[in-house]
Amino acid sequence: MDKAPKLPIDRLIEVVQKGGTVRTGVDVFNKQGILLLDKEVPITDPQVLVRAKEQGAGMVPINAAGGGGIWDSQGNRLDLPSEAPVQKPVAGGGRGGEIERRINEIIETKRIAAEKYQQAKACLRQIMDSIRRTGGEFDLEPVNETVKGLANFVTSHDNSFAYLTREIFSCDDYLYNHSVNVCTIGTVVLKKFNSNFSNAVNSLLNNVPTGGLGEEKRDPSAFSYFLPAELQDISLGFFLHDLGKVLIDPEVLNKTGRLKESEFAEVRKHVTEKARLILDKNRLNNPYIANICYYHHAKLYSAEERCYPAQSPHLIPAYVKVCKLADVYDAMTSKRCYREALNPVGAVTDIFNRYARKEPLLQYVLHSFVKSVGIYPPGSVVHLTNGQLCYVLESDGPVLLPLTDSEGESLRDKPELLDLSQGQAPKEIKVDRRRPSLNPIEAYEILPDYLRRVVTSQPS
Ligand SMILES: [Fe+2]
Ligand SMILES: [Fe+2]
Repeated sequence: MDKAPKLPIDRLIEVVQKGGTVRTGVDVFNKQGILLLDKEVPITDPQVLVRAKEQGAGMVPINAAGGGGIWDSQGNRLDLPSEAPVQKPVAGGGRGGEIERRINEIIETKRIAAEKYQQAKACLRQIMDSIRRTGGEFDLEPVNETVKGLANFVTSHDNSFAYLTREIFSCDDYLYNHSVNVCTIGTVVLKKFNSNFSNAVNSLLNNVPTGGLGEEKRDPSAFSYFLPAELQDISLGFFLHDLGKVLIDPEVLNKTGRLKESEFAEVRKHVTEKARLILDKNRLNNPYIANICYYHHAKLYSAEERCYPAQSPHLIPAYVKVCKLADVYDAMTSKRCYREALNPVGAVTDIFNRYARKEPLLQYVLHSFVKSVGIYPPGSVVHLTNGQLCYVLESDGPVLLPLTDSEGESLRDKPELLDLSQGQAPKEIKVDRRRPSLNPIEAYEILPDYLRRVVTSQPS
């Protein structure tokens, strides 16, 4: 049993998401001794693995001698050793092992992200071709499957949307990228909003302190703002939110300068006229999808400018507010052929300043947005106030991998991970917000080899 190979749980989730089966052949417990995965039970529902991951499962042993294995959707047994990530020592000892584990996780997440993106792109291309050919009709079934896969992926892989692509060169490219990004960012924000808001209401109803109930410990009969089937419809709406643009003149959509009033009126039609036409033609009368398509550019507070169509902000549902924040954030942080992307720190700050201290429900949405997107995106390089440069591993904390000393010299020794939320650094050492974060390509020269491996695995 000691020699049973271990596989990253994300890899197992991916196998099951594709219709495969996993059986561990050995009971898997977390550090608290709770049984997460039963050795006998074949796993065909990815949520079983997602829950195990949330409760601490990272690398999962698969014991073939105990009947364990992984099988694809056709029932073919997959070869275990070749499934495991390449274990190259990057640095000896526990510290290096921890860094290597994180690096392998990032590479694996990027690999799946690139795969999911390609699937979603192919699906969008089909929809767009069909809409152009037929004047509005498309097949919803494959879209449903694609969105389910995307939503499962981003909710089961931490920070995964940070690794989605943001380089956009053409109008169609823009729609592919933007649809995937809004769907993934929106889904993660919505999940956080749903659990925060539901917990807050439960706390009020049951008179217990807010935050006293973890998501996984909630009573299933407790209040839930959105139910699972609604969450699926909303993710689908995020994916389809800009579909009306397929029927707008690409020259206007791609125009680099300021739009004339007549051109802006043409763009506005993507939510008014064109979205309605496409939803009607396909007899798509789901209210979540319709509200997202019609109102994702509406006002979130009374004085907000250049919003359309006219609608009271109080009538805009929470999930449409989520879509609008994801839409604005993605537009700001995507690189277009005519302008550079805005730094994520600048984009989050701008959105926060724009929408903070407005109506109460918007504050819940905004809080979930900032907590989900994070100010320091994983994969970026930030400056500390003591002059060090660090690679961001997790935006929550943030958890950092130091690259240089305070003089800017590359570190010779293996660094210790720095979790700024855990008080590991002196209080005066923080991320220097006055200096923009860098793309790792810009800092390539000072990256150690094991991080260059991550950067070059970036999907293009
Ligand atoms: Fe739009
Ligand atoms: Fe959009």
